[in-house]
Amino acid sequence: MPYRTPWSARHKAVTAGLPHNLSTSFTEPLSNEELIKLSVERGDQDIVDAYYNHSLEYTPNGGSYDIREEIANLYGSEICADNIVVFAGGQVAIQTAAITLLDESTHSITFTPGYQSVQEAPIHAGSEVTKIKLYPENNWQINPEKVKEAIRPDTKYISFNEPYNPAGTLMKANCQSELVNLAKKNDIYILSDEVYRLLEHDASDRLPAMADIYSKGISAVTMSKPWGGCGITIGWLAFQELALRQKLIDTMYFHTACPSRASEIQGIMTLRASDQILAKNMKIIRHNIKLLDQFIKKYSDFFEWIRPNAGAICYMKFKGPLSSDELGAELGRVGISIKPSYVFSENSTYDSDYFRVGFGEKVFPKALEVLTQFVEENKNMWCA
Ligand SMILES: Cc1ncc(COP(=O)(O)O)c(C=O)c1O
Repeated sequence: MPYRTPWSARHKAVTAGLPHNLSTSFTEPLSNEELIKLSVERGDQDIVDAYYNHSLEYTPNGGSYDIREEIANLYGSEICADNIVVFAGGQVAIQTAAITLLDESTHSITFTPGYQSVQEAPIHAGSEVTKIKLYPENNWQINPEKVKEAIRPDTKYISFNEPYNPAGTLMKANCQSELVNLAKKNDIYILSDEVYRLLEHDASDRLPAMADIYSKGISAVTMSKPWGGCGITIGWLAFQELALRQKLIDTMYFHTACPSRASEIQGIMTLRASDQILAKNMKIIRHNIKLLDQFIKKYSDFFEWIRPNAGAICYMKFKGPLSSDELGAELGRVGISIKPSYVFSENSTYDSDYFRVGFGEKVFPKALEVLTQFVEENKNMWCA
């Protein structure tokens, strides 16, 4: 792929170093000390010893067996350690899947607005891409009819994000099965970016992982989001098709061929303490979303949303006189960072009043206070 500036990184020029961060999408960051403490508390001294004493030789291509086995425990009986390939983060996993499966002779279907890698990894791989627009009027849901219309004889890949970034909404279960049926019928791979899965606000809403339900389904996951382990830099792909394993490893041969062992061990510690970490993070999310509910209610003249039901992000509409681009710049001047709509679509038009707010961290209430103060200071002018 030739050099190109990532359009989703444009906001960084406005938001770098700002004290009140509403632009993150992860949960409360873990610390290494916390991971060690959780391991010791459950009597898992071996993993602590492994962390301090591990060799710095290469790890196996595609990740060590122990972390792949730990990851496989998140899935059903179709997925075991050999159905997992580990990468240095989720973004690398998404790019590698596309490069492995696609080329100039293929067509792919993606959705916008959305995370740039999920929309564009197929483009980076040379595939021709049809981007289907998602709308707030439809609760940001994918319309399977539109997907059916877009499928061509050379369509090889459908790539989406579920739960959905930027809006924190969940796909309907019947939509997931319709997409799987369409893909099956047309022999198409589905790359499902599931980095916010396990953070459903009501656990009974959780959809099955794509890798569990479809023989050509691939689930992309990262330690960054549900567990708050961005700095662990471990992501993975889970899939049923065993032949994919070596192909993914071959693609990675020329990139980060193997993950860091320290990262793998931190990843194992995280997964072994997963229930505790997720419970802690859901408590923060539930507290923060209540504050957001109050904010939206109080300032309904200026803001609206499709209330999120998964993860730690929401996509809000600003109903005042500024586009989200202008609002982002104004907020930047008072120390608040948000993600305007241009982060999620290259030429954002119909959603240009939307911006993403992240609410997964303990510091969120303070940032929301500063945003509230900004609204109080400006609301009369917005009404004028
Ligand atoms: C939807 C989505 N997928 C994948 C990733 C990539 O995760 P990682 O931090 O592991 O590269 C992100 C990170 O922001 C994301 O929001």
